[in-house]
Amino acid sequence: MSKTVSTRPLNKDDLSSIVDIDEKTSGTRKDAFWEGKIQIQESSRPPWASLVAVVDNEVVGFLFSHYEELEFGLPGSIAWIDIIGVDPGYRRLGVASKLMGHLTDAAEDVGIDRIFTLVADADPHMAEFFSAQGFSHGAMKHFRKNLSGKGGS
Ligand SMILES: CC(C)(COP(=O)(O)OP(=O)(O)OC[C@H]1O[C@@H](n2cnc3c(N)ncnc32)[C@H](O)[C@@H]1OP(=O)(O)O)[C@@H](O)C(=O)NCCC(=O)NCCS
Repeated sequence: MSKTVSTRPLNKDDLSSIVDIDEKTSGTRKDAFWEGKIQIQESSRPPWASLVAVVDNEVVGFLFSHYEELEFGLPGSIAWIDIIGVDPGYRRLGVASKLMGHLTDAAEDVGIDRIFTLVADADPHMAEFFSAQGFSHGAMKHFRKNLSGKGGS
């Protein structure tokens, strides 16, 4: 791309940019949700686990992750990508790839073995994106049970 994309750990001042990007993507404004998510990241997760991408001093993408050891009985440490999002006006320019590169380098630096994420069947472009990042289908299955008549994936 012609513009330079940089990445850095996110901070609470990025809240409004993240809310705006999510609103453009989902159509819903969720200030309290994202404020809570940033608080959790800042209080209990390492700086490299939550990142933003910046172009021309504007936050245009974000990535939230966490990591666990011995989760699901699997040996070693696993980083989980919770959410990744890029401003619709900046997609297909390598912004999310840059966020993934930062996360991967940082996770490797602290000895993490693998990165996991969940992708909805209804979002085939997410599967294509993660495939392009070198991800492949894992051996685990997603099991679910709906409670009190509630639906969802
Ligand atoms: C998926 C997403 C993160 C990709 O961001 P991006 O910055 O556009 O991704 P990149 O430019 O780094 O793409 C890298 C590669 O991934 C693949 N890819 C990316 N988006 C794709 C799409 N929509 N369909 C198919 N493949 C895609 C391509 O192989 C692409 O390489 P190419 O552009 O050279 O073909 C972005 O589309 C997004 O934010 N989608 C919405 C995600 C979402 O709903 N998040 C929840 C909260 S907001």
